[in-house]
Amino acid sequence: MMGHKLSQSIIISGESGAGKTETTKICMAYLADVGGTMGVGHIEEQILQSNPILEAFGNAKTLRNDNSSRFGKFMQLQFDVSGQVIGAVIENYLLEKSRLVFQAKDERNYHIFYQLLSGATEQEKQAMKLGTADDFHYTNQSYCTEVKGVSDAKEFERVRVAMKIVGLSNAEQDVVYRILAALLHIGNIMFKAGNEDSASLRSEAVLQTACDLLKLSMAKVTEGILCKRIKAGLEFVTVPRKVEEATYARDALAKAIYGRLFDLLVVRINKTLRHDEKQTSFIGVLDIFGFESFAKNSFEQMCINYANEKLQQFFNQHIFKMEQAEYDREKIDWSNIDFEDNQVCLDLIEKVRHSTIIWLRRN
Ligand SMILES: Nc1ncnc2c1ncn2[C@@H]1O[C@H](COP(=O)(O)OP(=O)(O)OP(=O)(O)O)[C@@H](O)[C@H]1O
Ligand SMILES: [Mg+2]
Repeated sequence: MMGHKLSQSIIISGESGAGKTETTKICMAYLADVGGTMGVGHIEEQILQSNPILEAFGNAKTLRNDNSSRFGKFMQLQFDVSGQVIGAVIENYLLEKSRLVFQAKDERNYHIFYQLLSGATEQEKQAMKLGTADDFHYTNQSYCTEVKGVSDAKEFERVRVAMKIVGLSNAEQDVVYRILAALLHIGNIMFKAGNEDSASLRSEAVLQTACDLLKLSMAKVTEGILCKRIKAGLEFVTVPRKVEEATYARDALAKAIYGRLFDLLVVRINKTLRHDEKQTSFIGVLDIFGFESFAKNSFEQMCINYANEKLQQFFNQHIFKMEQAEYDREKIDWSNIDFEDNQVCLDLIEKVRHSTIIWLRRN
C-alpha cells in the first residue's frame, strides 16, 4: 500500500471451520501493530475490540465450527499519508436471521444470548425476568446450550469490556440487553386456537414482559401478531391469524428486531471507529461465512453458499489469468491448464428467472 500508493484488499476464503475468522484477526492485529502505536485507548485497540462484539452477536456454534460466522464482514483499516492507522469502517452482509428462531440439533443460537443468560448480574436478571437458557424456546430447542471449553459468563465480561472500549455508554448497553431479553421472551409467546381457528395468546404475561422491555404498547403488538391486514377492494380489513400464522408472525418480528439490532451495533461501532478526514488509503479484509451443507438448508444458507461460489470464481479467474500471463511471458504452452470451473453452478443461480427466486423465497 505504501509502495504503490494504492489501497489493497485481502480476501480470506475457505469452507466453514477452515480458519477464516482467526486468520482475519491475525491480519488485523498485524496491521494494527505495524500501522499504530498500540497504546491503551488508541484507535487500534478500539478496532480490535470490535471483534468480540460482532462475534458475540453474529457467530454461533454449528456442527462444523464452535464459533461459526453467520454474517459477512468487510473491514477497511483506514491509513493516513504516513501509513498510520487512523480508523476503520465495517460493512456487514446478510446476517443469518433464521438462526434466531430455529437451530438444528446440537447447534446454538447466537452466542450473546447464552452469554447474557449466564453472565448477567442477579439484579439484571431480575429486572429482565431472565432464567437460564433451558427456559427459552429460542435457546433450548436444539438441546445444546453450552460449548465445550467455553465459559459464556467470562465471554460476556469480554463483551462488556469491548462495548465500553468502543464507546457504548452504560445506558446504551442496557438498551441492548433489554432488547435481547425481550427477544427471548417473544420466543416464549405461545398460542392456542380459539373461535374458528383464530389464534389467541396462551398467556398474556410473556408478551407483557417483552412489551415492557421494548417499551411498546401491548395492545398494538398483540394486534400485530394475532391479526393481519389485507386489502379487500379499496379498503383494508383486519383478519385474525391461525395459530401457525401467528407463530410465524412472532418469529418474523423477532428476526426483524435482531437484524436491526445487529445493523445498529455496526453503525454505532463505525461511529467510533470511522475517521475519514485524513484517510489516503485503506487495507480491506473480507471475512465471510464459509460454505456449508446441512441436512436442512435455509434460503439464507443458499445465499451463503452462493457468495462462496462467487468468491471462488473470482479466485479462479484471478489466479488462472495471472498464471497464464506468466506462461505467455515465458512462452510456455498453457492450453491444457485444467481447473474446476464453477460457472455452471453460478449460472444455475444467476440465470434463473425472477419468478423462480420469488418462489424460493416464499418456500
Ligand atoms: N490459526 C489458528 N490457530 C489455532 N486454531 C485455529 C486457527 N485457525 C482456526 N483455528 C481453530 O479452528 C476453529 C475455526 O476457525 P474459524 O472460526 O476461523 O473458521 P471460519 O473459517 O471462520 O469458519 P466459518 O465459515 O464457520 O465462520 C477456531 O475456533 C479454532 O479452534
Ligand atoms: Mg468465521
